[in-house]
Amino acid sequence: MTTTTSTLSPLPHILLSFFTSLVSLLCSLLVKSISAVRGAVSDCRRRLPLPPGSLGWPYIGETFQLYSNKNPNVFFAQKQKRYGSIFKTHILRCPCVMISSPEAAKFVLVTKAQLFKPTFPASKERMLGRQAIFFQQGDYHSRLRKLVLRAFMPDAIRNHVAHLEFLAIHALCSWEGRMINTYQEMKTYAFNVALLSIFGKDELSYIDELKQCYYTLEKGYNSMPINFPGTQFHKAMKARQRLGQIVADILASRRQRQREGQQSWDDLLGSFMSEKEALTDDQIADNIIGVIFAARDTTASVLTWVVKYLGENPGVLKAVIEEQEGIVKSKGEGEGLNWADTKKMVMTTRVIQETLRVASILSFTFREAVEDVEYEGYLIPKGWKVLPLFRNIHHSPDIFPDPEKFDPSRFEVAPKPNTFMPFGNGIHSCPGNELAKLEMLVLLHHLTTKYRWSTSGSESGIQFGPFALPLNGLPITFSLKT
Ligand code: HEM
Repeated sequence: MTTTTSTLSPLPHILLSFFTSLVSLLCSLLVKSISAVRGAVSDCRRRLPLPPGSLGWPYIGETFQLYSNKNPNVFFAQKQKRYGSIFKTHILRCPCVMISSPEAAKFVLVTKAQLFKPTFPASKERMLGRQAIFFQQGDYHSRLRKLVLRAFMPDAIRNHVAHLEFLAIHALCSWEGRMINTYQEMKTYAFNVALLSIFGKDELSYIDELKQCYYTLEKGYNSMPINFPGTQFHKAMKARQRLGQIVADILASRRQRQREGQQSWDDLLGSFMSEKEALTDDQIADNIIGVIFAARDTTASVLTWVVKYLGENPGVLKAVIEEQEGIVKSKGEGEGLNWADTKKMVMTTRVIQETLRVASILSFTFREAVEDVEYEGYLIPKGWKVLPLFRNIHHSPDIFPDPEKFDPSRFEVAPKPNTFMPFGNGIHSCPGNELAKLEMLVLLHHLTTKYRWSTSGSESGIQFGPFALPLNGLPITFSLKT
């Protein structure tokens, strides 16, 4: 023992004692910081009340109250009236804080966006693809967003007007003399526009199968997430797998053409392929499918509402027709629309804005608090869902007087910041909004200058699937103007 001790050089002793003191110092710091954090959390929790409202029954919360009415907005409006612009509730086993003031929406979506992460049910994430832009935060999200914006910003889409016009004319011709379901037809148009802006005009051989797989995926999207042979969900997951393969095949064929000398493509797939730190094929597929999902039903719902509101407001329709006929007259025989023409469609643009406000097809969005957050003296606990209620803001009489009235002239003056958010706000706001507006303007130009339509009678009301939609997709009879 003595020998061993005496043979030890002093250096290890010094190191050992230095190491021991360092460890004990670190431990004490760690204990202090843990208790400081715990103290802060419990302090925050102890100090602050939850927002007003009710969490309903144990386990089921207020889920029945929300779903007992066909229109969820009735529930939100009643709650807001009773508790004010921030209130708590408990839906589908999730405690939630709902917010309906522009300031609170800005806090959650813009100023403190890092404290609130996007959140979706796991089955939806699996179906769309876990690496899709919607579910991301941080550097990967910024990278994806840059690539998506590159393909859909005005400079990138201004040369697409002729292609969109071709798709619009083709769609409208196919409705001539028929009774159509407006929403279904608008879905087909918006799908074709989305595919064009994702894959360009050259990948036609893949498009039919891609569409079929997407339809199967769509059917399973809102089904029970039971992945067992025979179920809708299972079929949808298989279709999702096949969609991934189709995107991989298109990528392989493009890479081959690249090796043979083709330089680049000015569509979304081209933008994804151009990324220096290459995205994997799976990442590209998840985001392509995600963009189709984000682009199609949203735009189709808004177009369906525009058709409805124009039909119900003859004065507004007349003003739109005059504006669009003015553009026709300013052009040579057979000359198509261009980007500059769409900038002259001021009245039609206001009609689209007012439609986005009144219909508010996305009534709200979801976030989840990543830590305990204090807002206006209330606690938003970590893990709780936070829902900015866009529709309540768009229908606030303090912001938009006589809010139920369809009145495009209110957009002669730009709305105040953070009061008009049909495309969301902040880092997750819609990167496709310019394309959506452009494809709507192009279709409305041809619709209003060449066609007339009438709704099929008594049906009125709203359905949610999941976007707000005129009842039964607005059946109309559609004919050429004589
Ligand atoms: C009128 C039609 C549209 C409406 C009303 C709409 C609305 C929205 C809204 C409100 C968000 C934000 C959701 C949130 O914050 O949680 C969003 C995100 C998104 N939209 Fe749109 N959208 C439309 C059309 C499109 C189109 C045509 C595209 C693509 C071409 C598109 C692609 C996306 C993508 C990729 C996101 C996710 C962005 C991110 O997470 O960073 N949308 N959209």
